[in-house]
Amino acid sequence: MNSATLRAAIIGCGSSSAGKGGAHSIGYAHGWAIGRVTNLKLVAVADRIEQNAADFCQEFSGCVAYRDYRTMLEREHPDVVTVSAFPPYREEMVMAALAAGAKGIVIEKPMATSLASAQRMMAAAANTGCRLFVHHQRRYGKPFEWWRDAVAHREIGELESIDIAQPFDTFMNFGPHLVDAALFALGRERQAVRAIGAVDTTVLGDYQGIPSETQLLASIHFTDGVRLSIEAGKRTCGRLPVLRANGTHGFAELRLDPLPDDACVFRKVCASGDVVSPATNEHFHHSEDGVLYVERAYRDICQALRTGASTRIDGDEAVRGLAIIMAAYEAGHQGRMLDFPINATDGEDLVV
Ligand SMILES: NC(=O)c1ccc[n+]([C@@H]2O[C@H](COP(=O)([O-])OP(=O)(O)OC[C@H]3O[C@@H](n4cnc5c(N)ncnc54)[C@H](O)[C@@H]3O)[C@@H](O)[C@H]2O)c1
Repeated sequence: MNSATLRAAIIGCGSSSAGKGGAHSIGYAHGWAIGRVTNLKLVAVADRIEQNAADFCQEFSGCVAYRDYRTMLEREHPDVVTVSAFPPYREEMVMAALAAGAKGIVIEKPMATSLASAQRMMAAAANTGCRLFVHHQRRYGKPFEWWRDAVAHREIGELESIDIAQPFDTFMNFGPHLVDAALFALGRERQAVRAIGAVDTTVLGDYQGIPSETQLLASIHFTDGVRLSIEAGKRTCGRLPVLRANGTHGFAELRLDPLPDDACVFRKVCASGDVVSPATNEHFHHSEDGVLYVERAYRDICQALRTGASTRIDGDEAVRGLAIIMAAYEAGHQGRMLDFPINATDGEDLVV
């Protein structure tokens, strides 16, 4: 290992059962991606299930298994720490990684279970000079770049609204990807100004310690009059794309699966009426090999840690997304319109 090599460690790798690195055990996708990046070396993993950490090290030679992440951080002092355990542990893990001298921390989504928690992490990281990144890896996928370009380059005319339709529950779990994709297209200049929403809590669930609502509906207004609409829950209309940007001269959308006549999950329809859906082996959730988006993310992160450049997945952008999600829930709970910036304590406890 040369002196320029950054030492990486993962907290929360998951089990080695079928489907690892995708639907579950996302720690494997991080491990595979880290292995593909020059000057980044995976040195350790911690998982509170001892067998998970041991199995993980069978796959990644040179990686040392720990059961307790604090012991791992104290002994290894990794430069880059990936936090992919359950969301309620984010803050304590990030704070421990900061105390152990991490230069960069990659946090799985959702970044936190409250806005105040995300803001505390950002402030603490700024104090130590550590960079926080949130794993919104879809920003590195071609369909998502085409979607952003269709909006940013006005290929669909002037943007009027973006619709999010998540046809399953726990918006707090998957919604961060969708809101992040919306923000990717909306750009950094547009700011959310107010939110109104409704939350149905008839049947409550729990996913990895995140409470899950029955159905969520929200409307977020942006500075230039653009509206972001959100519907999430099992009873969301199944014919809708998960993301659609509506412009004055057409629309661009992203679907979980391509429509029968489309070549990919992205489709754009402009004033001419022609459908654009380019062939690609990059999909909604990941690339053909499952790791490309994550690998691109780590390349960007390493470059950022060397040069100080920003990345597509900087923590402040994730905080922006989290504020929108929390405002949607809070407006629903309080039954009134909320103005941005929402008070962090409004979203301190997510109660669905
Ligand atoms: N970015 C993506 O596309 C994507 C995909 C899947 C999951 N995720 C996110 O990754 C996170 C993990 O999801 P998963 O599906 O990999 O879960 P998982 O259950 O497969 O793996 C999580 C692992 O974390 C370990 N863990 C939990 N608490 C711990 C603690 N206190 N100390 C040490 N280890 C601990 C568990 O034992 C488990 O092995 C979630 O926040 C999820 O939303 C993101």
